[in-house]
Amino acid sequence: MTVLALETSCDETAVAILRGRNRHSGSELLASAVASQIAEHAKYGGIVPEIASRNHLVHAPRLLERAARDAKINMSEVDAFAATSGPGLASSLMIGASVAKGLAIGFGKPYLAINHLEGHLLSPFFGSASHREGVTNGYGELKPNVSLIVSGGHTMSIRVHSLGNYQLIGRTVDDAAGEAFDKVGKMLGLGYPGGPEIEKRARAGDPGRFDLPQSMLDSENFSFSGLKTAVRYLLPKLHEDFLADLCASFQQAVVEVLVRKTIAAAQKYDVDLVTMSGGVSCNRELRRQLGDACGREGLEFKGAEAWLCTDNAAMIAFVALLRLQAGFESELTEEIDPNLPLAL
Ligand code: KG4
Ligand code: ZN
Repeated sequence: MTVLALETSCDETAVAILRGRNRHSGSELLASAVASQIAEHAKYGGIVPEIASRNHLVHAPRLLERAARDAKINMSEVDAFAATSGPGLASSLMIGASVAKGLAIGFGKPYLAINHLEGHLLSPFFGSASHREGVTNGYGELKPNVSLIVSGGHTMSIRVHSLGNYQLIGRTVDDAAGEAFDKVGKMLGLGYPGGPEIEKRARAGDPGRFDLPQSMLDSENFSFSGLKTAVRYLLPKLHEDFLADLCASFQQAVVEVLVRKTIAAAQKYDVDLVTMSGGVSCNRELRRQLGDACGREGLEFKGAEAWLCTDNAAMIAFVALLRLQAGFESELTEEIDPNLPLAL
């Protein structure tokens, strides 16, 4: 069973082709291509929706051709076409969904509308076996877990029971963790996106130098705007040689809250496994501290592999394949939804 998936929820255009063997013997990623638009949006300090959708329209056909070439298959051999249907920017989602629906109609194959967050959520189970040059073999069995999704648009902890059966534990009430990294990065005059820039500088810094606030510690929800504001007020008082220490202190404040709440949720809901995904989960300090905390508490930890953390179509193809194997399909009339919820 071979699925082709498009991901165009934000500013990355991505196409992947995944071949499943059977439910238990894994899958093989035949192609995965991502065209990033970071450079085009960087000069505006954030994503411009119309530029993003215009670029998707240009990149999608090129990536489809390249993916088919890399996978050495003909489009007629694909068994189902999938696309991210939300959450994301409406004008961006529309491009990927329209292309996937067009292919499904053209080749007379099923269409699957996939939730972008479900892509992140299950990505720790994909690519956990060996992979080389983007070719992945096998995936872990989906086990109940508490999952942390940390990206530019989302921060949430989710209780995963089984495929499609998810329960929201907590979410951010204001900024997402990645958004806080990006906004603080901008305040500090660093490039966009701020996350990797802050991590780079934090390596040489003292995380204990600035005492920054950690909000809502007694709640299952998250809040990062107070932390961002604290940095804004602190900044004019600082003069020289503070950048690395400030980056390290800010990063540590975010990491500590995420680790503490994730461990508390895993204990409360009595799971053996903690998973983590999304762009911010690339952060090595977050991975190390959450991994260590899980180890101390006797919990297994699975973080999405680095190449799957930021937006990509492989994670969408993976969910599409699992759903197709479980007998799900979507109607061609299925709408895109910028606010599509993952779980209530
Ligand atoms: O998952 P993603 O590609 O897009 C969304 O779906 O939002 O995540 C992008 C976010 C950006 O906010 C970026 O700053 C953050 O992930 N990010 C990081 C790191 N790498 C990417 N944040 C902290 N540390 C990093 N190393
Ligand atoms: Zn994402």
